[in-house]
Amino acid sequence: KKITIAIDGFSSTGKSTIAKQLAKELGYVYVDTGAMYRAVTLYAMQHGYISENHFDSKGLIEELPAISLSFTFNKKLGFAEMYLNGVNVEKEIRTIEVSKLVSKVAEISEIRKKLVREQQEMGKNKGIVMDGRDIGTVVFPDAELKLFMTASASKRATRRYKELLDRGDKVNYEDILQNVQERDRIDSTRKDSPLVMTDDAIEFDNSDMGLKEQFERIMRLVND
Ligand code: C5P
Repeated sequence: KKITIAIDGFSSTGKSTIAKQLAKELGYVYVDTGAMYRAVTLYAMQHGYISENHFDSKGLIEELPAISLSFTFNKKLGFAEMYLNGVNVEKEIRTIEVSKLVSKVAEISEIRKKLVREQQEMGKNKGIVMDGRDIGTVVFPDAELKLFMTASASKRATRRYKELLDRGDKVNYEDILQNVQERDRIDSTRKDSPLVMTDDAIEFDNSDMGLKEQFERIMRLVND
């Protein structure tokens, strides 16, 4: 029987790596909700609604109906890529510039409402793995399996640093560590749907746990 798997946790705790692997193994659909908040942020940057020292949240809210988000499965990569108004933005949304502004955009209730509605629609049919910050609390409070991922800030920053380096981005480790900590602070203290671990979620601290071991533990939970 197919189920809904909700994965929440702090930034760069390896949520998407585990989620992708689970979806592949189970033949489920994987939805990266962070990509959606990142795509809205990219749109806001491109249209001058947000920059480092200015945020016209009211203007962005009015513009929301013009923002269309979709995922298209890339067979070669084995996962779905993010499209913003029909354009593949998978690379642009992962930059440090977007990472620095995304949590501010994600604080806006109207934006959360739009994205949550779309996420619930995508998960209407069981057989889904969704990762984010509010999946087990808001998007799918009835998910059969809820995982909450944690790891030390330095482990997380190192992971993100390597990812960006691998992509050929020019990055600075201190900058990334600071960004990871700042996003965690905003994400867990915001008024609307803050990042919290629910009582029915199972916590995974993968600071020291290898991916294989982690994956096997989660698969046992799925099969229970
Ligand atoms: O998962 P990722 O790190 O790509 O998410 C980027 C940002 O989007 C998070 O730091 C958070 O501010 C926001 N987000 C959110 N709710 C989600 C997913 C992401 O607020 N469900």
